[in-house]
Amino acid sequence: MSNQRPKNSNYTRGGQITFHNITMFFQINAKLVRWMGYGILLLTALLCFSFIDQDTLKGTYYYWRYSMVGKIKPDTHEVFTLWQGVTYKSTLGQQRLNPVFIDANRQFWLSLQLYLLASLIIGLTVFSLAMRYFKKKGDEQTDDHFIRGIQIATPPELASILKKANKQSDFALDGHKIFKQHFECQHLLFDGTTGSGKSVALRKFLRWIKNRGDKAIIYDKGCTFVSKFYNPETDIILNAFDERCAYWDVWCDAKDATDFENMSAALIPMHGDGDPFWVQSARTIFTSTAYKMVNEPNRTTERLLELMLTSELESLSEYLKGTESASLVSDKIQKTAISIKSVLAAYIKSLRFLEGLDRKDDQGNLVRPRFSIREWVKNKDENGFLFLSSNAQQHASLRPLLSMWLSIASTSILEQEEDHDRRIWVVMDEAPSLHKLPELAETIAEVRKFGGCYVIGIQSFAQLKKIYGTNAALEMFDLLNTRFFFRSPSNEMAKISSQDLGEQEMDISKENYSYGAHAMRDGISLGHQTITRPAVTPSEIMQLDDLQCWLRSPGDFPITKLDLKFDKMRSICPPFIRREYTSSETMQSIEHMLTYCQISALNLLPPDDQNKLMSVHTEQFDDDTERNAEEERMKATIDKAKAAKKKMAEKNKKPSSDKQAEKKAKEKEQADSEAVTEQLFQEEQNINEPEIF
Ligand SMILES: Nc1ncnc2c1ncn2[C@@H]1O[C@H](COP(=O)(O)OP(=O)(O)OP(=O)(O)O)[C@@H](O)[C@H]1O
Ligand SMILES: [Mg+2]
Repeated sequence: MSNQRPKNSNYTRGGQITFHNITMFFQINAKLVRWMGYGILLLTALLCFSFIDQDTLKGTYYYWRYSMVGKIKPDTHEVFTLWQGVTYKSTLGQQRLNPVFIDANRQFWLSLQLYLLASLIIGLTVFSLAMRYFKKKGDEQTDDHFIRGIQIATPPELASILKKANKQSDFALDGHKIFKQHFECQHLLFDGTTGSGKSVALRKFLRWIKNRGDKAIIYDKGCTFVSKFYNPETDIILNAFDERCAYWDVWCDAKDATDFENMSAALIPMHGDGDPFWVQSARTIFTSTAYKMVNEPNRTTERLLELMLTSELESLSEYLKGTESASLVSDKIQKTAISIKSVLAAYIKSLRFLEGLDRKDDQGNLVRPRFSIREWVKNKDENGFLFLSSNAQQHASLRPLLSMWLSIASTSILEQEEDHDRRIWVVMDEAPSLHKLPELAETIAEVRKFGGCYVIGIQSFAQLKKIYGTNAALEMFDLLNTRFFFRSPSNEMAKISSQDLGEQEMDISKENYSYGAHAMRDGISLGHQTITRPAVTPSEIMQLDDLQCWLRSPGDFPITKLDLKFDKMRSICPPFIRREYTSSETMQSIEHMLTYCQISALNLLPPDDQNKLMSVHTEQFDDDTERNAEEERMKATIDKAKAAKKKMAEKNKKPSSDKQAEKKAKEKEQADSEAVTEQLFQEEQNINEPEIF
């Protein structure tokens, strides 16, 4: 059975409809022209009788009367003429040549032509107005009518609606004040695929924030905002690889156990299908060890990492005696401890990049002053930007640190007193490129009272769902009231944007044609129907051009389509300045140990646990490129350690006297490093290398 309509009758169908339309067109126009003709004549007569004086009319009357009579009577025929109240007696011939009447007649025709022309012009105007009116009436019948739901307006229309409602914010996007007053407190979302214009829009917001003098914490993947906005006088950069990074360590922002617990939750996220016990335990070890070190005068990040990773399990349990972590690292549960350490190593290894930030000058003063995110957030005198930046090459390494810093900043906002006038912006462009931030949805929900304004940029809802899970992602999505939807090329994601832009109930018209052999059968019927449809269809979202987006404001305001202008901002500083430092031997050995703990030690575990831990390892990376880069780096670390071990073995075989002396001098210092290397390879003789390498 064919789904196609029979085509052979299309000629008849088209012809019938065309002729019917032509007939109706002429029908309307004939009526209109006829009525216009009557109107013009009537108007001309009216004008004549209104504006031509009585003598002219009467003179014209006598002129025509004597002309007619002259056709049947001789010129000698006697006539009586009443003119201006006096009756004159004369012959017909005299009156026919009367110059007063001839002149009146000429004057009358002149006026008549003039009034006819005026009536014609008026008639044509009325004609075109009537046509317009008919069209408008037709449009009203055939146009769709809005009943309720989401309305669409142009940016100037939206601006005037907001102004009339007296709810207009003073922020103008490309010259349009299209935001509701205090919109920032109800948080913002920028959703769109790569290159659609999210960062361009965000830059416009950041300029406004800077001009207002608000405090902002900006997660800047790619250091694009740093180059456009960083001012060393007022702003801070936290990027362990950047020369301009402030000196920060875990004790800058944590004093008691709860602070370390919060920190550990952000540093070691609960991702994927690994055993939650491992993550919880890794967090506990971090919390206990870092907290235990609070009172150590010479505490360093190196020492913290060393304690957590390179110490023998026994010595760590000895160190943590009396804390809840002691049982976790006890040698009785060695296999569990290996799993925990693997998870721990995967995330805390980013802390090693903090090495060297505490460098002192020749006078023993810190080159970089200590920086506490918490104090910065709470300090009323600070009104700059805090950049948490990373560039592409180091992003994967820095991700746990960045997530932790953002989490500290968020918690710090909540720790202040309620203040509805305060504004602290948290700008997270490409938010899903961070680890899952603990309780982000809850923070966003509560932070309004404390002046927190969250701006979240995502490439798709799917990204958010992947990191936070469906429920948390939906919860978070629901809290972002001002939303920008840029292009989503996939239908699934475009559907989500379309649904979020809302629906509208419309009264739509339907035109039906009927035709038959007899003209009686021809006709068009017009009907109306109420339907609910998306205000913007998924296809429209998919077709948006770069820098085009739909904006949805909170409340009963129309949505609007924006065509953002690309304003090329001048870079005011380099986006990234590499920090040069030489890693200490201890840190190098810590790096070996990290690799050992994270990957190599897994060979001691059953395959099931190995797979789960490997998934913890792989989940840290956004894509295969990031993962391969990290694996290459780890492989290089292992190779380096192997080479070091080989070299050491050769030295041990034929020790030269001076080298031996040197070795002895360094023996104490290298003890840890060697222990690590030994530990790293002692298993390798008995077991296969992990599959990943
Ligand atoms: N010099 C320029 N002149 C005009 N338009 C430009 C120029 N440079 C970039 N653009 C526009 O800006 C868009 C990039 O915008 P933007 O960097 O904000 O994307 P994005 O949505 O943040 O993407 P991503 O998610 O990858 O960061 C480009 O697609 C292009 O249309
Ligand atoms: Mg961007």
